[in-house]
Amino acid sequence: MDFLSYDIVIVGSGIAGLRAAIEASRANRKLRIAVITKVQAMRSHSVSAEGGTAAALYPEKGDSVESHVYDTVKGSDFLADQDAVERLCSMMPTEVYQLEHWGMPWSRNEDGRLAQRPFGGYSFPRAVFASDKVGFFEMQTLYDTALKYANIEFLQEWFVTSIVYDDSRFQGLTAIEMKSGDFYAIKAKAGIIATGGPGRLYSFATYGHSSTAEGLAMVYRAGIPLKDMEFVQFHPTGLVPSGILITEGARGDGGVLINKDGERFMARYAPEKKDLAARDVVSRAIMDEINQGRGVKSEGLEHVYIDLRHLGAEKIKERLSTIREIAIKFNNIDPVNTLIPVRPVCHYFMGGIDTNIDGATKLSGLWAAGECACVSVNGANRMGANSTAECLVWGKITGSEAAKYAAKSSGEISKQAVEQEQKRIHDGIFHGKGGENPYEIKKEMQRIMDRYVYVYRDGEGLSQALKLIRGLKKRAYRHVDDRSSEYNTNFTNVLELDANLEVSEAVVAGALARTESRGAHARVDYPKRDDAKWLKHTLAYYSSDGPKLDYTAVVITKYKPAERKY
Ligand code: FUM
Repeated sequence: MDFLSYDIVIVGSGIAGLRAAIEASRANRKLRIAVITKVQAMRSHSVSAEGGTAAALYPEKGDSVESHVYDTVKGSDFLADQDAVERLCSMMPTEVYQLEHWGMPWSRNEDGRLAQRPFGGYSFPRAVFASDKVGFFEMQTLYDTALKYANIEFLQEWFVTSIVYDDSRFQGLTAIEMKSGDFYAIKAKAGIIATGGPGRLYSFATYGHSSTAEGLAMVYRAGIPLKDMEFVQFHPTGLVPSGILITEGARGDGGVLINKDGERFMARYAPEKKDLAARDVVSRAIMDEINQGRGVKSEGLEHVYIDLRHLGAEKIKERLSTIREIAIKFNNIDPVNTLIPVRPVCHYFMGGIDTNIDGATKLSGLWAAGECACVSVNGANRMGANSTAECLVWGKITGSEAAKYAAKSSGEISKQAVEQEQKRIHDGIFHGKGGENPYEIKKEMQRIMDRYVYVYRDGEGLSQALKLIRGLKKRAYRHVDDRSSEYNTNFTNVLELDANLEVSEAVVAGALARTESRGAHARVDYPKRDDAKWLKHTLAYYSSDGPKLDYTAVVITKYKPAERKY
């Protein structure tokens, strides 16, 4: 076994991880900081963000931080912690200008100021953007910046298998260097988990195939709860049949949804905001159209269309060039003159690792930031463009907190815990005795999630999903065919599957228990929001028999829950 030692380890190299590394380094140049990632940093899923990052930039034009706060709280169906939302919205304008100073090529108005486009559910055009390549340019800006700090080291294509801890604090990680297959113990005084969302619990998803659950699972297994996992966002416009994101910026810039009769149907569901209602509202509207026979079937999937034709070639090519390219390459259609087939697609997990408002977990020395964390600013439904914003803000906060903590801590790592993990990985999994094909199990898990844990849910379907996932857990795991050491993705895929099954069980158990409809969690058997019983966060604690659920209060500072209308 090999050993490495750092002051801070950051797992994940997306927007949150990179922003955290930069902030920790700026706070203290003496710290040794490692960013550990199972991919090449610039292949982190954050590069796929398309349409925008939300910030109230122009009070002189009528926008305000307070309006951003209210839209976010209302969008969350009043389940967001309002103190956290206030922190997000008040820090965002500075983050936008900070990125600008590091080289971010934001799109601009004719007067040279930063341009903003409308996004669903907001009362002001608040999404600052760079054409429809926001994530790519934010990642490039942050990665270039991180490379300038000599005390940040990148361990790319390293697969973290567990966190190491004792009763009182975080001690480090265990990881496999993928190019050699060697197992390492990595001692660290502080850690930040920034591994993104577990989107590939679903097959029809906007996520890259690397978006799996091991970041959440390793923390969950260490006794830290996962919060609000039942709230899964289905973005209204996933390209059919691939699921690739067609950005909300397309509707922000004037695109409209139409059904099989060519009718603009959103006025039926959201008379004021129409196509720019909050995402949960628009996704349910699309499913209602489909379920009432006004959808179209192609390639085995029912869908509606988004129509951009009236925007004209020039605007589409300038502001929506990525989705035009995607439509041409994947569907052989040009949105300049053809409708794009779309349906709701798994896009975001509102839930994640339970943290306080500073991103700290219950384990001293360990923080979480970005989509894998639940701070919680998104409640039951995230507002578009708030995800990259959250990554920036809590990347910065956790980087700074971890730097302060690491500067006054000493590090040690339990050899016994590391050896135990090495045994689990090497003897238990790499040389396991299972007979099932893990790729078939993965497909079954995704089919279950796509079918029973989609936009609309009910008790019967969720009970069935729970039973089936538990059955898969028993069958899965411990079957690695490939015995080579170098780049053994068969092995890492089995570790990912193990984590995915663990976390999908927490999603389904939380959804089954929550007998109400709130935000993205729409139960046809409990169609109303029930504040008396359910204005509370779900906490799922790991046990070998499945998640144990508990609940905790929502922080309400200003805004009492009210009926949501768009
Ligand atoms: O539609 C989009 O561009 C997605 C943005 C987001 O999820 O924040």
